[in-house]
Amino acid sequence: MIKVITSVKAMQAFSEKSRLSGKTIALVPTMGFFHQGHLKLMEEGKKKADLLIISIFVNPTQFGVGEDLEKYPRDFERDKRLADEVGVDVIFSPPVLEMYPKGYHTYVNVEEVTKNLCGISRPTHFRGVATIVAKLFNIINPHIALFGEKDYQQLVTIKQMVKDLNFDIEIVGISTFREKDGLAMSSRNTYLNPEEREAALSIQRAIYKARDMFGSGERVVDNILGEVEKVIASESLTKIDYIKICNSQTIEDIEVIDRDAILAIAVKIGRTRLIDNLVFECVEREIS
Ligand code: PAF
Repeated sequence: MIKVITSVKAMQAFSEKSRLSGKTIALVPTMGFFHQGHLKLMEEGKKKADLLIISIFVNPTQFGVGEDLEKYPRDFERDKRLADEVGVDVIFSPPVLEMYPKGYHTYVNVEEVTKNLCGISRPTHFRGVATIVAKLFNIINPHIALFGEKDYQQLVTIKQMVKDLNFDIEIVGISTFREKDGLAMSSRNTYLNPEEREAALSIQRAIYKARDMFGSGERVVDNILGEVEKVIASESLTKIDYIKICNSQTIEDIEVIDRDAILAIAVKIGRTRLIDNLVFECVEREIS
C-alpha cells in the first residue's frame, strides 16, 4: 500500500531509515495532476532504485504574480491512485506552511543558465524551482532524481545546482511524452478549450518543420526561426512568448547550430502558456 507522508520530520526519518537499511532511493518531484508523462518518469524511477518516492507539491515560489497558482489543477486522490498503480512507495505531500513556514527567508539562485528563455518572461520562476528542489533533496536525500525534458531549462538549472552545491544525487532527464497528435503532455493542457487545443498543435508542426530543416542540413538559426515562427503565427489564437535556438548546455543564444543546441518555444494560447522544445544533436549528447 502506498504511504503518504506530509511532515518534513517524518519524511526525513523514513529516508534515513531506508538508507540505513541499504536501500537506494529514486525521487520524482511533481506538482501533481498526473498525466502519462509523470507516470513515465515514475516507471523509469522505479527501475532505477529500491524505493520510489514522489513529491506532490504545488510550489508557490515558482509562480509569478498573476500566474496560475490558484487555478493550477489539483486532484490528490486521483494522483494517489495512479501513483499506487505504478508502484510508487511513498508520496511526500507537505502543506505549504510545512515547506515555507512563517519567517522563511532562504532562496537558491542559479545564475547564467536561468537568464534566457523562461527566465526572461518568468523572472522569479527558476529561483522558486531551485529552492524547492534543493529543499526536497535535503529532506528526501535521494540517490537519483528524475525530471522531464519538456522543461529543458529547468533540467539544466537543476543539474547546475546539483554540481555547484555538491548534492550527491544523479539527475536523469526523461524524454518528453506526447499525446497521439504530438502535443507535449502538460498538466496545463487541461486549460485548453477545443479550438485552443487545435491551435496548440501548431507548436508540434513548428517542431517538425525545424527538425526537417535541420535534417536537410540547415544550420543558420535565423532561417530556421523564420519558418518556425511562420508556422506558429499562422494560428490566430497563438501569441509567441519566445522562440529561440540556444546552446543546450549554457542556454545562450547562438547564430549557427554548430554544437548541441535546443529549439525552445513558449507560446500563449488564450490564457494558457505552453512550452516545448527540440534538441539538435551535433556531437555526442550529454543529458544525464
Ligand atoms: O516540473 C515541475 O513539476 C516542477 O517545476 C518541480 C520540479 C516539481 C518543482 O516544483
